[in-house]
Amino acid sequence: MALVSSKEMFEKAYKGGYAIGAFNVNNMEIVQGITEAAKEVDAPLILQVSKGARAYANHTYLIKLVEAAVIETGLPICLHLDHGDTFELCKSCIDGGFTSVMIDASSKPFEENVELTRRVVEYAHDHGVVVEAELGALAGIEDDVNVSAEDSHYTRPEEVEEFVSRTGCDSLAIAIGTSHGAYKFKPEQCTPNEKGILVPPPLRFDILHEVEKNLPNFPIVLHGSSSVPQDYVKMVNENGGAMPGAIGVPEDQLREAARSAVCKINIDSDLRLAMTGTIRKFFREHPDKFDPREYLKPARANIHELVKHKLVDVLGCAGHAHELSNG
Ligand code: G3H
Ligand code: 13P
Ligand code: ZN
Repeated sequence: MALVSSKEMFEKAYKGGYAIGAFNVNNMEIVQGITEAAKEVDAPLILQVSKGARAYANHTYLIKLVEAAVIETGLPICLHLDHGDTFELCKSCIDGGFTSVMIDASSKPFEENVELTRRVVEYAHDHGVVVEAELGALAGIEDDVNVSAEDSHYTRPEEVEEFVSRTGCDSLAIAIGTSHGAYKFKPEQCTPNEKGILVPPPLRFDILHEVEKNLPNFPIVLHGSSSVPQDYVKMVNENGGAMPGAIGVPEDQLREAARSAVCKINIDSDLRLAMTGTIRKFFREHPDKFDPREYLKPARANIHELVKHKLVDVLGCAGHAHELSNG
């Protein structure tokens, strides 16, 4: 079993009305927590590496960790570059064994986005690698690029067909109201439900459906799709952290998106919250402990539980890994 591309995963996900989870990885415990959960529920997986992850952990370590996960789990896993911002970065990941790359030129004018994306697609396809591109800008942090809420703009459905046909990209990330990080909505934008939980304004499903109409059978990607579980926000805050007003995308909206043309849903912040909340709690409860294995073990276990919940209850991809020709 080797690393696989996302092509067949997306074909099956589109027809099956589910989405593949794309989880960001930065170290061994995160890779293990995610992949062991996927193995437990037979889910296909995309593990993604940002420019920042590569700078932190080193390309070779990350590749080898993901290859180890393929050997250990026997799962079809796609290794994807998240938010590649230059041709050179994409080329380096393609040459270095990734099976999928994202070129994110969404902050550039349309013509420049087309030009750069097309160049990456040509190189990637010559090397058997698939390419995700992006149209529209998410509010929040796009890797190194800080997109303020005022600058963010939704994807224009009337542009998607021309963009995809001129670039030849294999999937398209769109902006319909999600954003990166743990502070996706301000409390004043939200309405309390009967339990007092703050419910943010809904995603722009109207834009998603227009995009779907203009690009039949084409896989769509949602970035910024952490739901920011309030249990973990509480755990952080009760154990010395300070994350007031952290709010994410409600999981029922992600489930609805996964039933549509959305075939890939990106989750990073939730993993960070689970890990940080768990470790903060451990440190508060065990101030005498200093063996990293003792606090990384429960952190990894909680990532496992969180990812299992996403795969089964939110993305709907559990039980589908073995259906892939290499599954
Ligand atoms: O979209 C951004 C991802 O959460 C990766 O974040 O650049 O801090 O690794 P990072
Ligand atoms: P979150 O910050 O919502 O987890 O988004 C992650 C992401 O989009 C990675 O590309
Ligand atoms: Zn993203």
